[in-house]
This record gives sequence, C-alpha cells and structure tokens, in this order.
Amino acid sequence: MSTHNVWTHKGTFLLAAVGSAVGLGNLWRFPYLTGENGGGAFILVYALTIFAVGIPILIAETMLGRTSRRSPIMGMRHLTRTHGTSRAWESIGWLGAASAFLILSFYSVIAGWAIHYTGQMFSGALVGADSETIGAGFDALLASPGLLTLYHTLFIIASALIVGMGIHKGIESGLRIIMPALFAILLLVLFYSIANGDIGAAATFLFTFNIADLSLEGWLQAMGQSFFTLSLGMGAIMAYGAYMSSEASLTRTAVAVAFVDTAVAMVAGLAIFSLVFGAGLETGQGPGLMFVTLPLAFAEMPFGALVGGVFFILVLGAAISSSISLIEPVAAFLVERFDLTRPKAVSLVTLGAWLMGLLTVVSFNVWAEGTIFHTLFGRSAFDFIELLTNIFMPLGGLLIALFAGWALTQSEVMKELRTSDGWFKTWRFLVRFVAPAAVSFVFLRTIPQVDG
Ligand code: PHE
Ligand code: NA
Repeated sequence: MSTHNVWTHKGTFLLAAVGSAVGLGNLWRFPYLTGENGGGAFILVYALTIFAVGIPILIAETMLGRTSRRSPIMGMRHLTRTHGTSRAWESIGWLGAASAFLILSFYSVIAGWAIHYTGQMFSGALVGADSETIGAGFDALLASPGLLTLYHTLFIIASALIVGMGIHKGIESGLRIIMPALFAILLLVLFYSIANGDIGAAATFLFTFNIADLSLEGWLQAMGQSFFTLSLGMGAIMAYGAYMSSEASLTRTAVAVAFVDTAVAMVAGLAIFSLVFGAGLETGQGPGLMFVTLPLAFAEMPFGALVGGVFFILVLGAAISSSISLIEPVAAFLVERFDLTRPKAVSLVTLGAWLMGLLTVVSFNVWAEGTIFHTLFGRSAFDFIELLTNIFMPLGGLLIALFAGWALTQSEVMKELRTSDGWFKTWRFLVRFVAPAAVSFVFLRTIPQVDG
C-alpha cells in the first residue's frame, strides 16, 4: 500500500536530505580522512566524485523514491512490477535497508562519544590538560563497555523518539529546529578558529593540490567518503524522496544538497585544522582527530571549554539529523508491509540496531584485538560492519544508477526530471556509464583487500 504521505512544503525534502547528508561524515570522518591522506589531493578526488558520480546517483535515488511513493523495499517491488523488469532489482531496496540498519548500529555508538565529550568540555574537566591526559581519557572511555552502552542507548532513544512521532510532527519539526542551530554553531566555531587558530595553515593544507600525494588507497577512500557523506545507496534518500513534492526540481534539489554538504565539510575541515595547527598538533591522527586532538586544542585556548562544548553539541545535532534518516527506511517498510503502527515499527528497528550496536561497543574492549572475534574474523566486529557497509553502499549506488539508466524508459525518466535536453542527456550518460564505471573501479580495487 502506498503511504501517500508528503512533506508539508515543496522545500521540505531539501531540509530533510541536508539533515541526512550533514553528519558525522562531514565533521568527524571527512577531516580525519583528509588529514591522513595528505590534504588537498584527497579533496580534489572527493569533489570530482561528488559531482560526476554523487549528484547523478542522488538524483536517481530521489527519483526512485518519488515515483514509487513507497519505502525502498516496497517501492522497488512496485517499480519492478509496473515495469515488468526482473525482480532482482528489488535487491536495491533490501541492500539499502540492510545498510541503513548496519550503519545506524555503529553511528549511534560513535555519536555517543560526542555525548561524553559535550560533558567533558562544559564541565571544564579538560582545561589545561596535556596530551597524555586527554589521550588516556579517550582510551578509558573506549575501555568501558558500560559507559559506551549508556551513551549509545541515550542517543538511539533520542533518535527513535523523533522518528516515532511521524514524518511531520517528528522529523520535520525536529529538523526545523536542529538545522538552523547547526549552521549558526558552525559559523561560530569557524570565527573562533579564525581568531584563535592558524586559518592560513589550514587553508594551505586543504587547498594545495599535489595529486602525487595521493595513494591508491586514498583514491578509494575519497570515493567511499563521497557516497557516505551524501547518504547514497542506503535507502535513506529514497525513503525521504517518497514524501517529496512532485513540483520540486530533482536536479536543483540534488545540486543544493551536494553543495551544502560539501560546504559544511570544508568549513568543518578549515575550523578543525585551524585549531589543530594553531595548537601545534598533528593532522594525521585518524578517528581520534575529533576526540583527542581537537579537545587538546580547545584545552589550551581562551573559552575553549565553552566553545568546545558547543562544538560537540553541533556534532550531536548533525548526528541525530542523520540517524533519523537511517531509521525511516526500515521503519516505513515495517509499517507498509506488516501494518505495524509507526511507534511499534520504530521500536523494533531501534531495538535491533541497538543490539547490533553492542557488537561495536565490545569491539573496543571485551572483543578487542587478541580476543575471540578478532581471531575468527581477522578484524574487530566494528571494522567488519564498517567493511560490509563500505561494500553495500557503492553496490547499492551502482544498482540504482543501472536501474535508473537502463531499466526505466527514457520517456518516463524525462517526465520526472523535467529538465533541458542537454542536461537530461548528460545525466543519462553519467548514470549509464560514468557512475557504474567509477563504482566498479572502486570495487575491483577494494575487494582484493577484504581477505588481506
Ligand atoms: N551522510 C551521513 C554523514 O555524512 C551519514 C549517513 C549515511 C546518513 C547514510 C544516512 C545514510 O554523516
Ligand atoms: Na555528509
């Protein structure tokens, strides 16, 4: 059954899609990947992929949601039926739901770390602390399954409450408060970092291109990041697209989402590296960049505790506006398929993802290196889940591009896109050839690393 629900305004899809896109991917993952991969060259590849592959697939995924007006799984089933195409395309919906579920499970644990650091900052506990102390604090957090579970639980419950209240009273209203606040805080942090850090060094680091700096591994990570950051191939965009007004322009919306998402990543990168350089710290610290290096920078700066606390609120807001988009596709499926009430469906999804998240929790302590899971699978459960999603995301994107480019008829797509002939041809070329080629390239290079 179709839900026939639509967002309140023509522009709400844009708000919702930006909410989904802007998240830990921009504030946490993008800066540390850039830091590890030498800066500018990484950004160049990332930006190219966003425009040549990301935007076309974003348009395609939104279109699939909007034409079917159903959650990803039911929507793909509906589209394959009405087009008489192979039911194999339904796998797009299943893959999407599975990835959304898996990502939610670890996303919530990592967002939980930001709850911890919000408290650490505002309480002034880290003021003047040295790098050993702050590093040891992070290690102690990861070593505590109880604490990690507590934060993970708080975060996922907060997300569930928003989605449980429905797409209008919950998701829309929530985003209307969260998103403007996020942009205000981001600007505040940027100004603070200009005043107290070394913005010149940050800009040089981010925007000096030397493509030779980039390893093959860096290329792959840049492509993976462009999928992750735009929330592609996971059903999130398709689920939100199902509620999109028929009047809104697919192309303009997708370009706007990609533009805002990229701008947030750049501003966050500038601000974070300005503070890191200003405090004379290292850029290549990996996932600890935000949770160790940055608190250290704040610890030395005027009003650092206050601004640092506000910064971690920004991280939390960005994370929750993304996690709700991971609950929606799976919950909407349960509502459509099994006639569950929304609160029931949301509770089920969240409970499942919460349980799954415990695997990520124990990856840092009970099942850390040298213990049973590691011995059996050669990596932690967290790394294993991340690896799975790194395969599912591009695979989902590839199938979406192929379905939109080859399985749907030209006239039908034209009706949805309603755009100039020139752009229609360009878009079609990108989804038919360029995106599949780029994604296949990523695959062929990534898969051999799976067992090694
Ligand atoms: N795009 C989000 C981010 O950058 C992550 C995300 C992925 C959200 C997939 C929803 C779906 O943090
Ligand atoms: Na993002």
